Amino acid sequence: MAVISTSGLCRRFHVGDTWVHALDHVDLDVEEGDFVAVMGPSGSGKSTLMNILGCLDTPDDGEYRLLEHEVSTLDDTALSRMRNSNIGFVFQSFHLLPRLSALDNVLLPLRFSARDPAEARDRAIALLERLGLGDRMGHRPNQLSGGQRQRVAIARSLINAPPLLLADEPTGNLDSRTSDEIMDLFGELNRDGQTILMVTHEDEIAAHARRLVRMRDGKIEHDSSVH
Ligand SMILES: Nc1ncnc2c1ncn2[C@@H]1O[C@H](COP(=O)(O)OP(=O)(O)OP(=O)(O)O)[C@@H](O)[C@H]1O
Ligand SMILES: [Mg+2]
Repeated sequence: MAVISTSGLCRRFHVGDTWVHALDHVDLDVEEGDFVAVMGPSGSGKSTLMNILGCLDTPDDGEYRLLEHEVSTLDDTALSRMRNSNIGFVFQSFHLLPRLSALDNVLLPLRFSARDPAEARDRAIALLERLGLGDRMGHRPNQLSGGQRQRVAIARSLINAPPLLLADEPTGNLDSRTSDEIMDLFGELNRDGQTILMVTHEDEIAAHARRLVRMRDGKIEHDSSVH
């Protein structure tokens, strides 16, 4: 099944008296179980694409089907519902809440859900344990290393078991050894079936993916399998 299917996706921004074509007719299909690295020069449209795929933004033109639902025409409420139930996000700067413990950060996406709190807590604990943070659950973000913070953010992104994990430069703030650990984790999640789309600037990071998409000037310039 296609998790992502776009055709002719366009996004433009009015800047001064010109238009910037941040996305210029992007066709992209991502099947369930794929692990895609998106690369390309600064300004080539990677984050713009991730924002639309993540239902944080909508295209000016073209179609986007997420899990076989057309989402390019949804209003904000419907879009956030799609986002909350289907997509996990991991960011370069972790985006953890500083006053909350690792466990409470992981539970955050469930704050407004109808899920049984005890069951949610068990799932969060199991995720943190799986990610090697069993002995850090009560720590606040500033009491954790960068790699540990990112693992908390990954646990949070997975708490709803989203069909799609989106990551924009997930290792951008990490040293190379910690980056490798995070990529080993992504590889493991992907082998267990997690669909992942990740933006990176680094070839060594992209090498962990199954597929490489290169962007330039808002277009997909190249799309190939990594191995
Ligand atoms: N909100 C906005 N308003 C105006 N222009 C924008 C906006 N967002 C993005 N752009 C422009 O769209 C183009 C694509 O930007 P985008 O952030 O997607 O690039 P990127 O590939 O993620 O770059 P980087 O590698 O630096 O993160 C750039 O020329 C950028 O200046
Ligand atoms: Mg970017």
